Amino acid sequence: MMVRSALLNVMMGAARKAARSLVRDYGEIENLQVSRKGPSDFVSSADLKVEKTLRQELKKARPAYGFLMEEGGEIAGDDKSNRWIVDPIDGTTNFLHGIPNFCISIALEREGELIAGVVYQPLGDEMFHAEKGAGAFLNERRLRVSARRKLEDSVLATGIPFHGRDGHEPFLRELGVMMKNVAGIRRFGSAALDLAYVAAGRCDGYWEAGIKPWDIAAGIVLVREAGGYVTDYEGGNKLLETGEIVAGNDHLHQPLLRLIKSAHA
Ligand code: IPD
Repeated sequence: MMVRSALLNVMMGAARKAARSLVRDYGEIENLQVSRKGPSDFVSSADLKVEKTLRQELKKARPAYGFLMEEGGEIAGDDKSNRWIVDPIDGTTNFLHGIPNFCISIALEREGELIAGVVYQPLGDEMFHAEKGAGAFLNERRLRVSARRKLEDSVLATGIPFHGRDGHEPFLRELGVMMKNVAGIRRFGSAALDLAYVAAGRCDGYWEAGIKPWDIAAGIVLVREAGGYVTDYEGGNKLLETGEIVAGNDHLHQPLLRLIKSAHA
């Protein structure tokens, strides 16, 4: 039986508790597709409910920690060293359309460093979790990134910038280069789960630009603890600042960075 840290227990407990209302609300979504107003307002309130539960649970366990949340923004705590980075629903568009690929994402940043991450996909009961130095897990199973060495055998996940977002043209250039070099590219619709999939070896890599800290913070810890590499487009660690991210295993991460560079040369 594996022994888990108190910190991860807090994060996983909060995710499971918040997931209850999320799963209930997801059950309503199909009915709402056909209503005239559509499910948008309903989804906003589902999002807020999840965020509220997460905030309550995390605060109860660690009263002084601050927050950076998708809906609530930055909430400073008395303890300036520790901050939760939370996305109540990552994959909101999927949720809205009744597509069962979305999750709750919670990370802990300590002294500016990401040290723990939980990504919970409630419909499949997939709890991805990792803590710095202690490895990454899916439920009880230890995770390793894939061992593929060749780009041409690799499957990558990515995010496509949508209406109202910048970066359409640069993305098309990146896609143009990537699709000529890899076995397949997937757009699953949740950056946190994309990173969890890289950690689990389901995907060999992932890249995206224009991404927010709460979408990727927990997933970054998962990939690193599963033995993978995650950087910004320059190969540095300014992921949360630049919103650019490239993840992959030891063999593929540098080639992926080079491909992205070549797309913008
Ligand atoms: C989105 C998802 C998506 C990514 C977008 C994000 P949200 O997050 O992670 O996969 O491509 O850039 O905004 O809005 O569902 O929390």
